[in-house]
This record gives sequence, structure tokens and C-alpha cells, in this order.
Amino acid sequence: MKVLSAVAWPYANGPRHLGHVAGFGVPSDVFSRYMRMAGHEVLMVSGSDEHGTPILVLADTLGTTARELVDTHHATIAHELADLGCSYDLYTRTTSRNHYTVVQHLFEQCRANGYFIEQSQQVAIDPRTGRTLPDRYIEGTCPICGYEEARGDQCDNCGNQLEPSDLKEPRSKVDGATPQFGETEHFFLDLPALAGALRAYLEGREETGTWRPNVINFSLNILEDIRPRAMTRDIDWGIPLPGELGEKYPTKRFYVWFDAVIGYLSASIEWARRQGDPELWRQWWNDPEALSYYFMGKDNITFHSQIWPAELLSYAGKGAKGGAPGEYGELNLPTEVVSSEFLTMESRAFSSSRGHVVYVRHVLEDYGPDALRYYICAAGPENQDADFTWPDFVRRNNSELVGGWGNLVNRTASMVAKNFGQVPEPGPLEEIDERILAHVREGFTEIGSLIGRHRQKAALAAAMRVVAEVNKYVTDTEPFRLKGEDQRERLATVLHTLLQAVSDCNLLLAPFIPHAANRVDAVLGGEGQLVPMPRVEDVEDLDGGPGYPVITGDYTAFPVWESTPITVGTVIGKPKPVFAKLDAETVVDTERAAMAEDGA
Ligand code: MF3
Ligand code: ZN
Repeated sequence: MKVLSAVAWPYANGPRHLGHVAGFGVPSDVFSRYMRMAGHEVLMVSGSDEHGTPILVLADTLGTTARELVDTHHATIAHELADLGCSYDLYTRTTSRNHYTVVQHLFEQCRANGYFIEQSQQVAIDPRTGRTLPDRYIEGTCPICGYEEARGDQCDNCGNQLEPSDLKEPRSKVDGATPQFGETEHFFLDLPALAGALRAYLEGREETGTWRPNVINFSLNILEDIRPRAMTRDIDWGIPLPGELGEKYPTKRFYVWFDAVIGYLSASIEWARRQGDPELWRQWWNDPEALSYYFMGKDNITFHSQIWPAELLSYAGKGAKGGAPGEYGELNLPTEVVSSEFLTMESRAFSSSRGHVVYVRHVLEDYGPDALRYYICAAGPENQDADFTWPDFVRRNNSELVGGWGNLVNRTASMVAKNFGQVPEPGPLEEIDERILAHVREGFTEIGSLIGRHRQKAALAAAMRVVAEVNKYVTDTEPFRLKGEDQRERLATVLHTLLQAVSDCNLLLAPFIPHAANRVDAVLGGEGQLVPMPRVEDVEDLDGGPGYPVITGDYTAFPVWESTPITVGTVIGKPKPVFAKLDAETVVDTERAAMAEDGA
């Protein structure tokens, strides 16, 4: 099966913190790794989301250019995600020339099909820069309740929706200046003309029963109040309109969300071009049998279950106004929108500006990818909000990862090294041996099915229960007591069985903690390259723009998702520990002190 794994594009506005990777970064990688092991042809794409007003405003604030800002952060983010083990076939960026071309083509076809309407809109303009100020960048007094810090889109005090021109004493959030108001023409995506097609699509998805209930319900609900939506902005950072329109409207750019979601398609095309087979992407997009899974946080649902499908439907000419697809043909709508909830950090929202934050880079450097990935998989915000705490992080690492899994690996390898120095030839199996092997084998079915249905917490818990069973097998068979010459055959059988079980558990855990899986593989006498890892590579822009780093990798050599026989005679030496215990007090004290300091 062809499976598109489409991962939300992080804004290139700073390094990643835990909140950014917990909801969809790690989950999408666990899913993609498992699907590859299960024999599917996965195409996993994403990239940095680099346009939009917030990035421009941030660059202004820092006294740099948007281009410099995104260059820096794109590179940083690519390294962080690669070090976390995220196995993108391509992690690119929205400033690539290829992306510009795809976005402009999509727009032209949607427009030719009649789904873009030009309408004028009241906008606030920054008198200093002449730039349009987005609604939420204007503050003022609420005309309804008098709250002085109401925003141009809504008042957080009374909850009413507002227009920027409703505010009394409006001021720009950027520099406090009083905005001017004016009229400007914009291109609106005619969502009402697509509402019928969207509803049919979503109802079809609802019938499968596979979407998380909150996601499908929310998506259907927002159809009730569907209106045309402006897909252009007056701003000088973004993708210009194509051809003559670009000349007619030189100051307009596409709205960042219009371009960002097209990234899934443009990145697939870029990947195919880089493979030297430019049409290859079509197997994931034109074949109606191909599956596509989109991973994101819940604040992104609208854009993936409404705006992106609307763009795809209008491109294909499948709304009320008819039309026909352009050169990309009929493109698949998302099979599933997999959205997570929010992660808080010691009971409060993450906030880089307030220093209430834990950066991915820091955790990778100080504690390594396994502890982090394990924590996220075990305790992340999969289907309800979750709270990251340092004591919990340490506890999961020490008692589950080190105490449960690391210990099992360690004592198994130690006993084998001491008694045989290699995988021993087993004698006849007893019932207890058969039972544990069967138990581990069944794990592949159960855990695979859970990961396939995006129930990763349950999947990891099930895998850790298998590990616990194997630990119990050691307690029950007591190989450390089988010392006599006459017990040597039984010892060989137990240790062979144990090695087989441990090796299979390592496969079961590999999607969650791939770095560890490779180290465990080495402990068990392998090459330490059980599962492929991504790499960062500097590439040329395919169409003459400036070069940039991407994440990519060769993922053809994934092991198969099934119990895989170990080889008698494989040399096994005295193991080095695979994981390290953390000192609870030191970690909690240091981390909390660091947070307090940054926040001060
Ligand atoms: N940059 C957006 C965010 O962080 C996500 C964009 S997902 C995309 O919320 F696919 F649309 F790019
Ligand atoms: Zn109000």
C-alpha cells in the first residue's frame, strides 16, 4: 500500500520546544516507521513554514530580514528533527522555488475553475510601514465591554468577535502606532461553492469511524458557518500571484495558510524530482487507493479538514461551479486528519518569551533521544491535553525505560556472554518457553494494529507489558540457577528463548525508540543498524534559487514487522548499558532552576 505521511510544517520562527514535537513530530515518525516495517511504501514529507506576518514582524523586531530569520531557523529545526530521529523522506521549506511554482499553478487552476472571487475588504494599515496589519495585531478598547486590550479579531474579555475598525483607540501591537483604515481587493476562496463537496467528503470519512471523534465533529460543525475566505494579503513576504495578476497586484502575496498546506504536494513533487523520477509522486496522490495521514496539533484542524480539501476539490473542479483538474490530475483528499491535543509544561502553557519552555535541543543533548521519545509516546497529548513534568520524565526514564527494558536487555546479554559468548543452540522447548514466544509473536498483531489506528499510548503500553512478561519469564525459569553440567542444555534453551524474545521486543519498540533499537541490536551481536536514520543534507534548489539543508534518508532497509529468528552462533560479548538512570533530585532541581532564571 502507498501511504502518504503528511506532517504539519513548523513555523521557522525559532527552535523547537517540546510542545512542538510532542503532538505530531514524534507520533508521525512512530507511525511512518511502523508502516514501513509493516511493508507499506511510505512517503513522509514536511518542511519549514516560512511565510506570513508573524515571521515578518519578528524579523522587524529583531532588526533582521525575514529571509535571514527563516534561513537560520530552518537549518536549526532540520537538525533538531533529524537528531530526534524523524524519518522524513523529505523535509524541505516553503521558500523553495519548486514550492512557489506548485502554489501558483494550484491557484491558477482553482481560479480558472471559478473558485476564486475578488472582493474588497476593510483593512488596517500601519502608517509607518504602509503594510496591512493583520486583525490580531491590532489592539484597542472593546466597544462592547470596554476591555482595553481587545484584539482586532476578538475581545478576550467578553468573547465577542470584532472587526479591527470596531475598536476604540486602535493601536498597532507592533509599535503602538494608530492604524489607518482602507479598502483593498483580495482573492477569496469560494468556500460556500465547495461546501456540498466538503460535506460529502467529510460524511464519507465519518462513516469509516476512524477519525478521532472531536476532529470529525469539529470539521463537520464548521461547515455550518462557511464563508468565502481571503487567500491573499498585502504584505511583501510570501508567494506572489502568478503572471499578469502578479503585475497587476505587485504588493499582494498569498496568505501563509494557502501556501503552507500545498507544501504536502509540492514536497512530494520535489522528492520525486530529487529521486530522478519526476512523476513518482503521483503514486501517492493520483491513485485513489493510496492512503494519506495528516499529523498536527488541534489548532490546525480547520486548515487540514476544510481549507486543504477545499483547495484540492476546487483544483479538481469538484465544487458547485464545476471545472476540470489541471496537469496534476485528481489529487487525493486526506484519508485521515490525525490531530493531537495540547501539551502543557508543569501545568502552564509553553511560552518561549516567558522562558517557560523546554527546548528539544536541550533535552536531546542532556538526556538523549530515547528518554524524550519514550516520554512523548507514553505520556504525550494523544487524545487529551497532557502535562509535562520533570519528576514524571525522570520516573518514566528510570522505572520504565531503564528498569523495565534496559535491565532485561542487560541481564540477558550478560548471562549469554558469561555462559556461552554467543547465541546458544537450544534443546527441546518446554511449555513455558513456547508460551513466552507465542506471547511475543502475538504482540506484533496487537501493537501493530494499535499504531495503525493512531493509538500509540496504548501500543507502547502493550509493548511494555510484553517486556514485563519476558522479565517474568526470567524470574520463572531462573537461568542464573542453572549451573550444573547436567543443566547446561536447559540453560542454553532458556537463554536462546530469552534472546529470541528480547530481539523481538526490540522490533516492537523500534518505532518508538529507534536509536535505542540500534544500540540493543549491537548488544545482541548485530551491526547496530537495525533501523534506518534520517540525515541532514545540503542541496541545491532545483530551479535556481539558493541552496538549503533538507532532511532525507534511505529507508529501504527497515526490518519486517514480525517475529524474526535469531542466528545460533552470533557472538555476544559483555554488554555496556543501553540506557542511563537519571538522578531525580539533580534533574528536577537543575531544570526548575533554569526555568525560573529564564523567566526572571
Ligand atoms: N506552521 C503551522 C503551525 O505551526 C502549521 C502549518 S501545517 C501546514 O501551526 F501544512 F499547513 F503547513
Ligand atoms: Zn469585550
